[in-house]
Amino acid sequence: MRVEVKQSELTDAGAELAVVGLFEDGELPAPAAVANGADQAQAGFKKLTILRPDGFGPVLVVGLGKRDELDTEKLRVVAAIAAKEAARLEAGSAVWALPESSEPAAAVEALVTGTILAGYRFDRFKGSQDDESPRLENLIVLAPAELAGAAETARTYAEAANRARDLQSTPANVATPTFLAERAEEIAAGVETLGIEVLGQAELEAKGMGGLLAVSQGGPQEPKLIVLRYAGGGSGPTLGLVGKGVTFDTGGISLKPGAGMQEMKMDMSGAAAVLEATAAIAELGLPLDLITVVPSTENMPSGTAVKPGDVITQYNGKTVEVNNTDAEGRLILADALAYAVELGAERIVDLATLTGAVLIALGSTYAALISNDDELASEVDEAGGTTGELVWRLPLHPEYKEITTGRVADLTNASEKRKAGTIYAGSFLEEFVDGTPWAHIDIAGTAWDVGRPYTGDAASGYGVRLLVEIARRLSA
Ligand code: BES
Ligand code: MN
Ligand code: ZN
Repeated sequence: MRVEVKQSELTDAGAELAVVGLFEDGELPAPAAVANGADQAQAGFKKLTILRPDGFGPVLVVGLGKRDELDTEKLRVVAAIAAKEAARLEAGSAVWALPESSEPAAAVEALVTGTILAGYRFDRFKGSQDDESPRLENLIVLAPAELAGAAETARTYAEAANRARDLQSTPANVATPTFLAERAEEIAAGVETLGIEVLGQAELEAKGMGGLLAVSQGGPQEPKLIVLRYAGGGSGPTLGLVGKGVTFDTGGISLKPGAGMQEMKMDMSGAAAVLEATAAIAELGLPLDLITVVPSTENMPSGTAVKPGDVITQYNGKTVEVNNTDAEGRLILADALAYAVELGAERIVDLATLTGAVLIALGSTYAALISNDDELASEVDEAGGTTGELVWRLPLHPEYKEITTGRVADLTNASEKRKAGTIYAGSFLEEFVDGTPWAHIDIAGTAWDVGRPYTGDAASGYGVRLLVEIARRLSA
């Protein structure tokens, strides 16, 4: 989408649709104020009224509710609703009059974000006839010129979130570990500040990445460990981003039930988020150093698959009894986290569709946050408040550690008792960060089926904007 910040009148902006927000105690600007029905325009939050002033195109009035209750989440929501209405009205361009706000830069970011996210569709595999419904292609925001940077920043990270949604939605017969590695190559290509290294089967064997190798041994797709390094400089800590890249999770020998299994093409949502966030951070030129690590594989059952009870050795030398082959995410993340630490990450954030239990605990409103560091945890929590990608912290405790202890190995990847599944997984991962400040975000509930006006019910792109916001804070 093209995004522009302009300082014209609503009527001179040259857009097919004008959009104005209306507070409950507010007034409509000209020319909407004198249009037929202007006095009936509804100011309740999310209410829509279409006015047709003489000699001018349609004006969409969007209710903003109470002035002192308007926040960036509400602005993303109204922007999304307006974008959908624009599409329904077949407008290719829309101009938003920036609602009054004490934080105009954040308001511009929210409007741009909500508009771009709401316009997302995944139609790569649809016939051409289905693609004829109109799209909003131009967004103009009427705001002071100094807010152009905010609009461009938001455009960059919102488009990145939409690219992550493409990766999430792409079926597993196309989006293989090799496909993700190729996407990473594309991200790095021609960008001077980005370097890439991809480890395949032979390199993983040489390094002893036993977790990633064990999970991949049941299927024909070659596992990949993708490493992107961004050198943005600055004086802050080197940030490590790790994303679970299981391109399809059947459960392996501990096979999942059939119903809904197609959703497991999105078990690489963490990988999609960290890859596209890395692209956005590089595009924005944020002043920090970044190490992004994506372990990627399928999890397939077969005669060569890892079996319940098998013992593997992770990259950091710890041994694990694989008592449930469906708890595969933690095995590949363990290697990736240890590798990120070795490469020099000083703060680590990992994103993973790790446990069904997080869906039971928090639904699709909050992702679970588990951290060994209060300072990093509050940065992540505050960043989530800013972007609307909310996190709720769950505890670590020595008693949870006891249940991760193996019978015949150092650790076991799953216990028979179905207790605190999300914390168990986090507690397991902590064994691989060697004390580095680390925040684990379990996005199994928030990566799709979120149902907000700007996410819809399919892939949400959760985490891209959050990671960019964390990077902005760490590089500030
Ligand atoms: N990828 C799944 C978790 C998941 C479930 C993501 C639902 C999205 C929606 C993960 O690999 C998994 O299977 N976890 C198991 C762990 C268990 C065997 C300890 C789970 O949560 O059931
Ligand atoms: Mn699984
Ligand atoms: Zn999984």
